[in-house]
Amino acid sequence: MVYQPAENRYESMVYRRCGKSGLMLPAISLGLWHNFGGVDTLENARAMVRRAFDLGITHFDLANNYGPPPGSAEESFGVLFKQDLKPFRDELIVSSKAGYRMWPGPYGEWGSRKNLVASCDQSLRRMGLEYVDIFYSHRPDPETPLEETMGALDYIVRSGRALYAGISSYTPEQTQRAAAILRELGTPCLIHQPSYSMFNRWVEDGLLDVLADEGMGAIVFSPLAQGLLTARYLDGIPEDSRAAKPWGFLRARNITPDKLQKVAQLNDLARERGQTLAEMAIAWILRQPVITSVLVGASSPAQIEDNVGALANLSLSEDELNTIEEILAS
Ligand SMILES: NC(=O)c1ccc[n+]([C@@H]2O[C@H](COP(=O)([O-])OP(=O)(O)OC[C@H]3O[C@@H](n4cnc5c(N)ncnc54)[C@H](OP(=O)(O)O)[C@@H]3O)[C@@H](O)[C@H]2O)c1
Repeated sequence: MVYQPAENRYESMVYRRCGKSGLMLPAISLGLWHNFGGVDTLENARAMVRRAFDLGITHFDLANNYGPPPGSAEESFGVLFKQDLKPFRDELIVSSKAGYRMWPGPYGEWGSRKNLVASCDQSLRRMGLEYVDIFYSHRPDPETPLEETMGALDYIVRSGRALYAGISSYTPEQTQRAAAILRELGTPCLIHQPSYSMFNRWVEDGLLDVLADEGMGAIVFSPLAQGLLTARYLDGIPEDSRAAKPWGFLRARNITPDKLQKVAQLNDLARERGQTLAEMAIAWILRQPVITSVLVGASSPAQIEDNVGALANLSLSEDELNTIEEILAS
């Protein structure tokens, strides 16, 4: 059936300005790292993308290697784009990245101009897009001059392959240098994509300050610690969960009794607030004004609905914030 997006799709989503740029991003964006690959069902992927767009999620985040197999998430998105979203291209922000291993030989990963430009072209072909909205250097490369990697991002933008440039998982110092090089080249660094959640707070140690100073936006990945910061694992490891699957980085051994005890306490606090834990974990991240968007993953439309439900109550009192700190430190 031809997809007709919900007419009220822009009524409840919150859009936040990405740093000092002209671009607004939805406070909640959808990442296609897991559950959109060749091993997954396209119809579930379609249901999630449609539900997300119906809820005002205009931003879909990909990378060359998402799958498995690598590249297949972009291929699936390409099918969904062609069949469902093409008439709405100007309402969408699609991103991709290069930097992790994608093809054999010396040019299939890291930060050379060769890798970034070739990978961007491959991504565009897989997705059937003329351009991506944001193209990222997926990780810093200790061996390639930063000038070359940033020069490649600048070229990718100037050649029309992308509208904006971004970086992911760069340290505060690398971010400052990258921002200075890109500014000099005339293509400002739009955004940084770091990991951030209640269980992973490295960005609070300098990166968020650098982003505020540089006027860059931030979109944070794994905000729910890959599902751990939800009720998903409170009664064991469900068969259809990420931790039960043979691929990916969330393993059963990461779900420790100590973590689960904290999750249970956080879950109680969320319930007192009339929220799910996923909603509270998202609200906790959005308390930081420098963070533009929370980049969630999902395995069902219902999870996307739950996550967007966070917007109904984003305020956290001092008492609640202190209780969260106590639980996390316990
Ligand atoms: N730049 C980078 O290096 C990098 C690295 C990693 C990720 N990312 C990006 O960030 C995106 C998000 O990362 P992530 O998938 O790790 O994020 P996440 O939101 O922390 O974890 C998503 C997983 O949590 C579970 N979940 C989500 N909402 C839920 C809810 N309401 N209730 C219960 N469980 C829920 C689902 O697990 P189940 O599948 O078990 O249901 C889902 O697959 C990726 O798709 C990708 O775009 C970027």
